[in-house]
Amino acid sequence: MKCRKCGGKAAFNMRQHKLALCKEHYLEWIPAQTERFIEKYRMFTHDEKILVAVSGGKDSLSLWDILWKLGYHADGLYLALGIDEGIGYSDESRRLCEEFASKRGLTLHVVDVLGDYGHTIPDLARSTHRGKDKPCSVCGLVKRHEMNRIARDFGYDVLATGHNLDDEAAVLFGNTLRWDGEYLLRQGPVLPAAPGLARKAKPLCRFCEREMAAYALLSGIEYIYDECPFAVGSTSIYYKELLNDLEHERPGAKLSFYLSFLEAKKKGLFAEQREETTAGLNVCQQCGQPTSALDLCSFCRMMGVGV
Ligand code: AMP
Ligand code: FES
Ligand code: ZN
Ligand code: ZN
Repeated sequence: MKCRKCGGKAAFNMRQHKLALCKEHYLEWIPAQTERFIEKYRMFTHDEKILVAVSGGKDSLSLWDILWKLGYHADGLYLALGIDEGIGYSDESRRLCEEFASKRGLTLHVVDVLGDYGHTIPDLARSTHRGKDKPCSVCGLVKRHEMNRIARDFGYDVLATGHNLDDEAAVLFGNTLRWDGEYLLRQGPVLPAAPGLARKAKPLCRFCEREMAAYALLSGIEYIYDECPFAVGSTSIYYKELLNDLEHERPGAKLSFYLSFLEAKKKGLFAEQREETTAGLNVCQQCGQPTSALDLCSFCRMMGVGV
């Protein structure tokens, strides 16, 4: 297989794009495409301050690398969640994020959830009614809250995450199975800022997992190979497998599922939902983030902050 740009030996073949590229051209193509998506979906500009949430995995570290190469003002944020499970998952992912930042002279904020709030994620999951068996829902709540807090407190214009096409298609699949209008309306490459909430952007949402793994490997980025130990057996992994089977039979199906959804949304398919979702939210009396509760948001209630 030959590189379409230079005719040299291809390092990576993308059946869904009918495109094969050598290492050099692949490492140019991914950032160039990312820049196109950032502009197309109006995620952010070169004048804005971006906070990249990095987990130590291939997607978010590649995203930070790409934004840095494209000359964006992008700092990192790592949330130390205290997940060990015998493999030192959090410690190892933190080390990789710190090493990535120091090699490139980049700024990384680290929030230590145990140090700041006195609980690890698994502890919180055990002691609350949420996520009795798995800590993932508590973890999601903490991540969302803390990402927003740091973005707001340090004056970032936008929060960027490393969600890729496989993540987005799996979420879309789940939302579609339930025809969950509220979630469908909020899903997309960019979510505008709301009172107390930062704008959110997913610049990698059109790249599949394989493409990001190839980018990380070919760029020599050191990342944590393990998934979060609690993700094993999750519904989202099952949906990803289903969609990969489909993709195998019909290359391009995953991307077209996601892009057709974005088109449908642009045409106003879920428009009547809009007013309902933004109405009726209050402000948390402790942290100022929006909540459907009257006094404290779920995060502040769970952490016992201010009570
Ligand atoms: P996940 O929810 O684990 O699929 O991760 C989705 C995105 O959230 C990643 O691509 C990162 O941008 C961000 N993220 C996940 N875990 C962390 C973490 N511990 N610290 C900072 N950002 C994270
Ligand atoms: Fe939070 Fe797995 S439970 S990343
Ligand atoms: Zn080439
Ligand atoms: Zn709160």
